[in-house]
Amino acid sequence: MTDLLITNAKPYGEEAVDLLVRDGVVAEIGTGLTAEGVGTLDAGGHVLLPGLVDLHVHLREPGGEESETIETGSHAAALGGFTAVFAMPNTDPVADTAVVVEHVRRRGEEVGLVDVHPVGAVTTGLRGEKLAELGTMVSSAAQVRMFSDDGRCVNDPLIMRRALEYASALDVVIAQHAEDHRLTGGAQAHEGAIASRLGLAGWPATAEETVIARDVALAREAGAALHVCHVSSLHSIAVLRAAKAQGVRVSAEVTPHHLLLTDGRLTGYDPVNKVNPPLRTGADTQAMREALAEGVIDVVATDHAPHASQYKDTEWAAAKPGMLGLQTALSVVIHTMVEPGLLDWHGVAQVMSERPAEIGNLPDQGRPIAVGEPATFALVDPDAQWTVRGAALASRAANTPYEGMRLPGAVVATVLRGRITARDGKVVA
Ligand code: DOR
Ligand code: ZN
Repeated sequence: MTDLLITNAKPYGEEAVDLLVRDGVVAEIGTGLTAEGVGTLDAGGHVLLPGLVDLHVHLREPGGEESETIETGSHAAALGGFTAVFAMPNTDPVADTAVVVEHVRRRGEEVGLVDVHPVGAVTTGLRGEKLAELGTMVSSAAQVRMFSDDGRCVNDPLIMRRALEYASALDVVIAQHAEDHRLTGGAQAHEGAIASRLGLAGWPATAEETVIARDVALAREAGAALHVCHVSSLHSIAVLRAAKAQGVRVSAEVTPHHLLLTDGRLTGYDPVNKVNPPLRTGADTQAMREALAEGVIDVVATDHAPHASQYKDTEWAAAKPGMLGLQTALSVVIHTMVEPGLLDWHGVAQVMSERPAEIGNLPDQGRPIAVGEPATFALVDPDAQWTVRGAALASRAANTPYEGMRLPGAVVATVLRGRITARDGKVVA
């Protein structure tokens, strides 16, 4: 049923209104609205936002189902307030052909809780050697609009140049995991005082900054859209600011964990804190917050990276990098951005819904809350507090870095084109 009467909701935290939804579209906004024979959602005076859009998740299917599936990941997404996610191609097999991206898209539609948009690989097998068939994936039933080798960097400048030229011609975006592998050498701790003290090999911030600098030059030349994944270093901000000032088509994301967590957490060698790019310093997290508020960083994307316990409950060097993000993202953004006054609710809608939908080229997501627009929403209780428990999250894996933390803000309901997909912490199948 896609007819729905939502009562007592505060769009962007403003005046409370009722919204009448017909066929998945907002038909009327007013007060004291009534309707016969439609489903109802009492919004309890909570904040109504456009449904959240995540440009960067790992759903692990196909091939990594011990860590996550499209079904469990869709549950986590709906519970986190998301109505669209972009699934990264570092699966097994890699999503570098029409067959694989079509499978991911179809499976997402079968589960039906969130729009799952497959990201296609830039290079065959993510090996960085040969361009994948981007055009075939674009014109496939999966309608791929974003390509990335995420997990790895497209390190070869000639391959990156060609990818951007194709992206320009195909009107798609290349999302770069900016990490010069020659500089990081596989290290997974921020190069600095803490890594030295702990005897961990260092991942220098310059490995990110130099790739971004190179890529914005290539994107400018190609006239292509470049998206920089998970910016983590304050030095990268200056490069992005300069590129944007020159009119380069570049956008950037920051993860919730790079807004909140620092390398100070590494002292216990707990691999739950191992992530790529690594947690950096307090100066970096502060710079990320300011850049997001200023718009130099466009969006928050989770880099939701589930790993089954056998990949995480091991020593630091052997553990896989990555952390869960879908069900905690909004709370971390409220804590790091809304509470200190860096973003209001319009700002949250911008960085978690509107801009991601624009960058990912999704015409019916990230839309204003208005008559004639899709009824695709996240309803948020900003005053709620909750304690994170990995075991209670919907993901198949439990690798949350926020275990035991109390976080503000709870998603009360998620609505996708008039259909309630999550309510009071439970998925509505
Ligand atoms: O921490 C990370 N985990 N960073 C990546 O780039 C890839 C991701 C994964 O796939 O687990
Ligand atoms: Zn990445």
